Amino acid sequence: MEFPFDVDALLPERITVLDQHLRPPARRPGTTATARVDQQQQIMTIVDELGKASAKAQHLPAPITSASRMQSNRHVMYVLKDTSARPTGRGAIIGFLKVGYKKLFVLDDREAHNEVEPLCILDFYIHESLQRHGHGQELFQYMLQKERVEPHQLAIDRPSQKLLKFLNKHYNLETTVPQVNNFVIFEGFFAHQHPPARKLPPKRAEGDIKPYSSSDREFLKVAVEPPWPLNRAPRRATPQAHPPPRSSSLGNSPERGPLRPFVPEQELLRSLRLCPPHPTARLLLATDPGGSPTQRRRTR
Ligand code: ACO
Repeated sequence: MEFPFDVDALLPERITVLDQHLRPPARRPGTTATARVDQQQQIMTIVDELGKASAKAQHLPAPITSASRMQSNRHVMYVLKDTSARPTGRGAIIGFLKVGYKKLFVLDDREAHNEVEPLCILDFYIHESLQRHGHGQELFQYMLQKERVEPHQLAIDRPSQKLLKFLNKHYNLETTVPQVNNFVIFEGFFAHQHPPARKLPPKRAEGDIKPYSSSDREFLKVAVEPPWPLNRAPRRATPQAHPPPRSSSLGNSPERGPLRPFVPEQELLRSLRLCPPHPTARLLLATDPGGSPTQRRRTR
């Protein structure tokens, strides 16, 4: 991606790390305050354009990465530039990777809710003309080193099929731990959580447990998908050859193929019966001994 300013001069390193301040890298001697403001504007332009290109590549209705969203979140963006483009002009940007820590409620292998705060992969894009050239891996590897995390410790916000293949190829990540939100975690996630995963007390009333975790793609909601527990995830992150139409649910991103197939009706009924009754419902049941079992269930 080229820009109407000198990207090479603006971003001296091959990979630039940007945080919510979107500051230009290291101040050069003699740089005036006005020049600094111009440089920041240029960085904001790069972030906005990268966000738009990523959204287009993922068929999202709106970008999930922009300068204003970067400024209002504690996310980190790794931007890869094309050093080889220097002789031809003013440099170019190859792509970016955006990460951030998020509080999530995730299920472990025994389907217990865990409150965790892992590093999440939020957005990832390599320019169409340069995909499958190893640039994605270069960026990802750099991020892993900088953030000091192992691939299986990450949570991925609704990964695309390309990203699932990428993770499988480069990091051998394949078996997922089924979740009720849009985040995908892989086997080994609970082995090395820093700080350690916090277990929620068992048997809390259903309303107290937040089965969804806020996704960056939440604001893109366009359609409604059945709520938990109808939307349980498959075990393997194997991408489908023909993904079903995109949809969404609370805390979900609409534009990635649904990760959870519908559960059979019997399983749903069993799950609902397992839900503890609300205290008000308990009170009603206690004061209405003549109510039929069907009515009682409906009251619940
Ligand atoms: N089809 C299938 N697999 C692909 C494709 C593709 N078109 N592109 C990349 N991959 C996977 C494959 O495993 C591939 O290995 P292979 O060529 O041997 O099959 C591997 O990635 C290539 O690795 P890199 O070259 O290091 O990756 P790349 O530079 O292409 O970057 C990325 C990967 C970022 C997923 C890139 O393909 C891309 O920008 N795709 C479009 C946007 C996208 O889907 N981003 C992820 C959104 S989800 C999120 O951000 C949470």
